[in-house]
Amino acid sequence: MTTTNRTEPQAPSRSEFAQDFLWGCATSSYQIEGAGSEDGRVESIWDRFCATPGKVRDGSNGSVACDHYHRFPQDFAIAQDMGLNAYRFSIAWPRIFSEAGGKPNQKGLDFYSRLVDGMLERGLQPWATLYHWDLPQYLQDIGGWESRGTVQRFLEFADVMSHRLGDRVKHWITHNEPWCTSMLGNFEGMHAPGKQDLHAALQVCHHVLLSHGKAVPLIRANVPDAKVGISLSLHPVRPASASAEDWAAMERHDGLRYRWFLDPLFGKGYPEATMNRLRHAAPDVHPGDLEAMAVKTDFLGVNYYFPETIQHAPGHEPLDARVLPPAGPDTTAMGWEVSPEGLSELLVRIQQDYNPGPVYITENGSCYDDAVAADGSVPDVQRRHYLMRHLGALKNAIAAGVPVKGYFAWSLVDNFEWAEGYLRRFGLVHIDYATQERRLKDSGKWYRAFLKTETK
Ligand code: FCB
Repeated sequence: MTTTNRTEPQAPSRSEFAQDFLWGCATSSYQIEGAGSEDGRVESIWDRFCATPGKVRDGSNGSVACDHYHRFPQDFAIAQDMGLNAYRFSIAWPRIFSEAGGKPNQKGLDFYSRLVDGMLERGLQPWATLYHWDLPQYLQDIGGWESRGTVQRFLEFADVMSHRLGDRVKHWITHNEPWCTSMLGNFEGMHAPGKQDLHAALQVCHHVLLSHGKAVPLIRANVPDAKVGISLSLHPVRPASASAEDWAAMERHDGLRYRWFLDPLFGKGYPEATMNRLRHAAPDVHPGDLEAMAVKTDFLGVNYYFPETIQHAPGHEPLDARVLPPAGPDTTAMGWEVSPEGLSELLVRIQQDYNPGPVYITENGSCYDDAVAADGSVPDVQRRHYLMRHLGALKNAIAAGVPVKGYFAWSLVDNFEWAEGYLRRFGLVHIDYATQERRLKDSGKWYRAFLKTETK
């Protein structure tokens, strides 16, 4: 169920944020680019996953998507018109290396070089994510992220990209949401490569975090003025009831969902209580790995969508705890609870637990069943309210002392929403997939009006 008649929320104005605050939108390669077999791009694990019957709800794939590969000048013109000053994108690894240990593909490199020039021409500060889930399939065939060899391959990729784009790209995100890469892809099997094996998932996670730690100094060596970080998907957690059992279940869940990532990144190693419970599936950790993973970063990227309510659930793998569906009516079309307070609560908690330095919201957004009205507008009032309310929460977090320096709305355009295919729309810009026509939704118009107000 989604709410429709909520009263107009109070939104902050842009002038209440710092003048140098970054205002952007985020996207990822597989979700928008299309051009699936152009200019030497090879198969990714998502192409393979999409081709497996039953994995993607509408049976679709990213081979055309928003055709951003060819239409990016138009998309950046829209972003500029909205008043954005930053843009987060990801680089498709299968466009850059067509085989393990091979030479980089010049056409792939040239595409991203043109893409970055396109951003700069439109006043958009480029924020590059190296890994947003589209691993080359040939690497999966030899173990993917479960294999330690993939760490080395990732470093080659990071080296080539930072070398090629580093004269213009100063902001680098090594990985997007390692929880999804590891747990959603290898334990729950909902994302590529679709495995259901806890040990595999934890090993993947270990290699992803290790590859992050090793990539940071490498990028800095190639781009001396680079700012490098990582983006995690995080949720504030609540117990399903006041019972001691639900509280304990919440703690267990949080150990794997939050601490398993943040603790090692901030030098605390894997959380002991969680490791003890998951010892049967523990990853292979080499001497020096934890030190490498704990490299100091320049910022933390936080992707926030919704809070999680946790219930004690004996037998529910892997920690006898499960996430309950939201109880209230205020949910998005994904069934995700709308909770702006959750954003400020999460940010304040991270600040207290880790004091991570500059924080950027590298994703936040909502999915609703948008329709184009007779006059061509897209009256997505719920997404507009979602955005307004979350910017209010962001302001509160900053007032509480969290050093948030930028906000990237997910997403610029509607796109391929992974296992949900094209059934889910998250864009501030509507895409008509039959014609590739772009239309700024009312939420995008609101963001534009917000951004055009005077800054301090
Ligand atoms: C995040 C992903 C992003 C998008 C949003 C809705 O988990 O990073 O690609 O799918 O969810």
